[in-house]
This record gives sequence, C-alpha cells and structure tokens, in this order.
Amino acid sequence: MARKKFTVVGAGNVGATTGYMLAAKELGDVVLIDIVEGLAEGKALDMAQSGGVYPFASAVTGTTNWAATANSDIVIITSGMPRKPGMSRDDLLAKNAEIVKSVTAQVVKNSPQAFIIVVCNPLDAMVYLAAKVSGFAKNKVMGMAGALDSARFAYFISAQLGVSIADVNGVLMGGHGDDMVPLPGFTTVGGIPLTELLSAEKIDKLIERTRKGGIEIVNFLGYSAYYAPAAGAVKMAEAIIKDKKTVMSCCAYCKDEYNIGGAFVGVPVVLGAGGVEKIIELDLSRTERAAFDKSVAHVKQLTAKVDEIIGT
Ligand code: NAI
Ligand code: 2OP
Repeated sequence: MARKKFTVVGAGNVGATTGYMLAAKELGDVVLIDIVEGLAEGKALDMAQSGGVYPFASAVTGTTNWAATANSDIVIITSGMPRKPGMSRDDLLAKNAEIVKSVTAQVVKNSPQAFIIVVCNPLDAMVYLAAKVSGFAKNKVMGMAGALDSARFAYFISAQLGVSIADVNGVLMGGHGDDMVPLPGFTTVGGIPLTELLSAEKIDKLIERTRKGGIEIVNFLGYSAYYAPAAGAVKMAEAIIKDKKTVMSCCAYCKDEYNIGGAFVGVPVVLGAGGVEKIIELDLSRTERAAFDKSVAHVKQLTAKVDEIIGT
C-alpha cells in the first residue's frame, strides 16, 4: 500500500507541531511548506533527524515550493496570523483571508484530490473560504476547532473531578469563538453523565473557562496555543486516513442539518475515508438551541465579511 502524503501549510507553531505528530505517529510522509525561506526546510530537517533517536518510518521534508506538495492526500492549512493579547480571533479575518485564499488556490492546482483541514482563524470563516475557493465537495473541506475546544472542556472537567482526562468525553458544538456551545448534557465521564457528577454552578464555571480557553493561553504566552490544536488536526487526519469512523466535533458544512440553511460550523460528525461522512443531529434543549443559533449567526456575519473581501 502506498504511503499517504500530508502537506502542512505553515511551519509555525501549529504547523510544525502537526507535522511532527503526523510523522512520529507514522501516518504517512509529511511535506511542510512556508513562505519564509528556510523555516520549513530547517524544521523538517530537525524532525527527520529526531527519527535517529525515536525512530519513525515517515519522510519529512520542508519547502517553499508548492510542486513538492503534489498529490497530497490531506492538506492541513495552518498558515495564518495568530492572535496576540488583546486580539479576538475575528481581528485576524482580513489578513488571513488573503493567505487562505492564495494557499487554497495552490492546493487546487497541486493536490486536486486532497481533503482540506483548515486551522487558521477565524476558523469557521476560513473553512467557508477554503471551500468556496477550492470548489471541492463539501465533505472534503473541514475545520479543526471542536477537537480542541472539547479537549479543553474535558481537561477542565478532569481537573475538577480529579479523574483521568482519557475518561472524559466532552461534547461541544458551534463556531470557534467565545459563543461556542459546550454541551454538559451530552458530556460523559467514564460513561456517566457529567450532570450526575457536578453541580450546575460548577459546570457553568467550566463552560466559561472553556469558552475563554484560547485567550487564557495567549495571555500566558503572548501567542496562541499549539500542542492541543495540532493534536486536534492530527486526530482528524488520522480518522480520514485510517477510515476510523471517528465521532468528534469539527467545522463541517450543514445545509438541512440543524436547519441552518447552509453554513460551515462546528457540529458532531463521523469522520472516515469519505471525510465528513455524516453530521450527527443532537436533540438540543431550548437553551442549547438558542446558544447554537447565536453562534451560527456570528459565523454567518464573518462569512459575509469574507465575501466582501474576496468577492462572492
Ligand atoms: P505561526 O505564526 O506560528 O505560524 C504561521 C506560519 O504561517 C508562519 O510560519 C508563516 O510564515 C506561515 N505563512 C504565512 N503566510 C503563508 C503562506 N502564504 N504560505 C505558507 N505559509 C505562510 O502561527 P500559529 O500559532 O501556528 O497559528 C496559525 C494559525 O492557526 C493562526 O491563524 C491561529 O490563530 C490559528 N489557530 C487556530 C486554532 C483552532 O483551534 N482552529 C488553534 C490555534 C491556532
Ligand atoms: C485557540 O483557541 C487561538 O483559536 C486558538 O487557542
């Protein structure tokens, strides 16, 4: 069986970490590409040499040349400005729209059969843009945020309860913004509903911390998180490459689902060899539904701005 090929666009914090995880897990060969001369090349060389310590069979190369990315199975787009303290994800829209637009055109040219996983912020709007520019089937273009936000929710729950994070299945949907929608009623700990284990007051505090989970790290570091974001992107890539039928949240296209009339937004899905194979429609309570609608409305405002920038 031929090895799978991944291109990771952007060899910055998220991109390099993603590339390293893909290689270390031997999911396939990895091409890192960046516009900064030497950056992807240097990081790829370092990663490849790490295989002399903890061996892996994957090849890792770095480049500024799109030809080297040809015929990738999955392209993960991390090329974009990250936020700094005081910035919201939405503040990145204009700059990152230009980057994602030009990168997506290169993906179409060099890897027309690829799945695209977008990581750049503002996430849901950048997925919309990549889908629009690529014209790829909607099941093949998706965004990583739900994996990260659910993992943050799961971490805060595990720390509060003093249990293993591996036993917590945090469920969350909506856009990747402060109005994301953690769903305690669907979240379980070792199969036990979270609502059986923590009071509503305590759960509300964990929800609030999850919503602000990104900025909490930005305020510590001065730049944004990358280990957990990279892990989220790798989990999605692995689900597709191995046809795992993984149930997780990601930014996916919903038309009739949830009656939102056509938008890319975070929802629970089944990820497998067909990309987004199914959107899982949860029976939301009135409050959850209202929170989801608010988040979708925000995402739609951002996609309208994308249309203004790149033209409809
Ligand atoms: P970074 O600044 O460390 O890396 C970005 C890289 O992209 C840089 O090396 C830059 O040279 C490169 N780049 C810029 N334009 C390019 C182009 N046209 N072609 C190729 N490479 C290009 O930033 P970091 O921390 O890796 O974050 C990347 C993006 O991911 C940001 O937009 C950030 O907000 C977003 N992000 C999203 C998350 C999510 O949950 N969806 C989580 C974490 C970050
Ligand atoms: C995060 O949530 C910045 O979107 C990024 O960490």
